[in-house]
Amino acid sequence: MSVWAVLAAAGRGERLGSDRPKAFARLGGRPLLAESLERLEDSDWIDAIVIAAPPEWEEPSILVAEELGAGKVNACITGGDSRSESVRLALTEVPEEAAVVLVHDAARPLLPEEVIERVLAPLGEGWDGVVPALPLADTVKRLEDDRVVETLPRGQLVAVQTPQAFVAAVLREALTGDLSQATDCSSLVEARGGRVKAVDGDPRLLKVTDAEDLAQVESWLAE
Ligand code: C5P
Repeated sequence: MSVWAVLAAAGRGERLGSDRPKAFARLGGRPLLAESLERLEDSDWIDAIVIAAPPEWEEPSILVAEELGAGKVNACITGGDSRSESVRLALTEVPEEAAVVLVHDAARPLLPEEVIERVLAPLGEGWDGVVPALPLADTVKRLEDDRVVETLPRGQLVAVQTPQAFVAAVLREALTGDLSQATDCSSLVEARGGRVKAVDGDPRLLKVTDAEDLAQVESWLAE
């Protein structure tokens, strides 16, 4: 069974307030992208990697891979206008023989090997996709403008992270439809009736959105 990883790194990351894309913000003295790329490269579970790079940052992305000696990197494509579009474009570089695709956000640098293992295992039990999830601490409400219209049952809700793992053919099919509303790959698979399992996520998989997140991840990295 061959497992391909797609590293979604093509976001602009404007909320970080930097002059460069988020994947190239500095983390522990190197580009943010390097952390998750190195962990995918070192994973026993991953056979090959495709990077979706920000437009005009393809060469620097390849350089990061070369500097890491990341021989599993098979291709580096120019990302699209949205995350889903970037993943769809990256999949064009994943061969038909690939059985499984693991999609990960470069914006979540601290990728534990145990989580990779946790999302891959259930695919052998007939699931179409697997997502890492964390319980919610806060009560969640639905709004119309600023009016609260509903309080959702927290016990049934989780926050979902990446890496998300899929049967390759199922993900390919899910990415052929309307991608405009999707904030993750799993939602596209669910919308087509795919069976997606939730497994335990990890707080260290925090998505870097602003400078505070970057400082938090930096301090975890230094531990
Ligand atoms: O923007 P956000 O932080 O939600 O993006 C999640 C991940 O998707 C990031 O790693 C980002 O680089 C990636 N992305 C992408 N292509 C886009 C937008 C986001 O690969 N057009």
